[in-house]
Amino acid sequence: MSNPYQKPDHFTKMARKQGYAARSVFKLDEVQRRFRLFRPGQRVVDLGCYPGSWSRFVRRAIGKQGVLVGVDLERPELEDGHWIVRSVLEVSPEEILEALGGAADVVVSDMAPRTTGNKLYDHVMQIELADRALDLATALLVPGGAFVCKVFEGEDAPAYCDRVKARFDKLKRVRPEAVRKNSREFFVVAQGARPSCAAAN
Ligand SMILES: C[S@@+](CC[C@H](N)C(=O)[O-])C[C@H]1O[C@@H](n2cnc3c(N)ncnc32)[C@H](O)[C@@H]1O
Repeated sequence: MSNPYQKPDHFTKMARKQGYAARSVFKLDEVQRRFRLFRPGQRVVDLGCYPGSWSRFVRRAIGKQGVLVGVDLERPELEDGHWIVRSVLEVSPEEILEALGGAADVVVSDMAPRTTGNKLYDHVMQIELADRALDLATALLVPGGAFVCKVFEGEDAPAYCDRVKARFDKLKRVRPEAVRKNSREFFVVAQGARPSCAAAN
């Protein structure tokens, strides 16, 4: 997760102050300020939810009436949510739908593989996770629903964006201010899940 040798920056300090486990929350915070995706009462899926800062942020936005389901290899230290502790490659859409109690309004993914330093390998592994997130979003979202997904820049990124574009009405590539300068990540923010591929309510 965070590098213990890296000096805490403005976002790290702000995350601590506001009770978030990771500075990455400010990436989602910027997405929310720009696109207004989360509203009280929604059903939301958080893929790669550990240690839980995005999940905490989402919970605050959807309120107690909302339903939050998180999937990760590790369980976040949060009470308020339904956690599936397994790889996204092994979890079925049916299992997530059952936990949600209906189709999702928003699916977010901040998943990243354990990086090796080999840029090409890390990129390919990350795109595999992003593709799995897209397939799950396709199966889980209501028509018109939204999808936010982390992507590592690289050779396969443009084709990945095209695959997302084919399933949603609108797509924006976003690089929030909280992304570290030396990071190759960006986020796709896709809105308007096409009814043909979205889950029925
Ligand atoms: C950058 S962290 C997510 C941080 C989180 N959004 C937050 O704000 O607390 C990336 C997460 O992806 C998860 N991950 C990696 N591969 C995964 C897989 N195959 N299935 C589920 N989660 C995975 C990791 O365990 C890690 O917790």
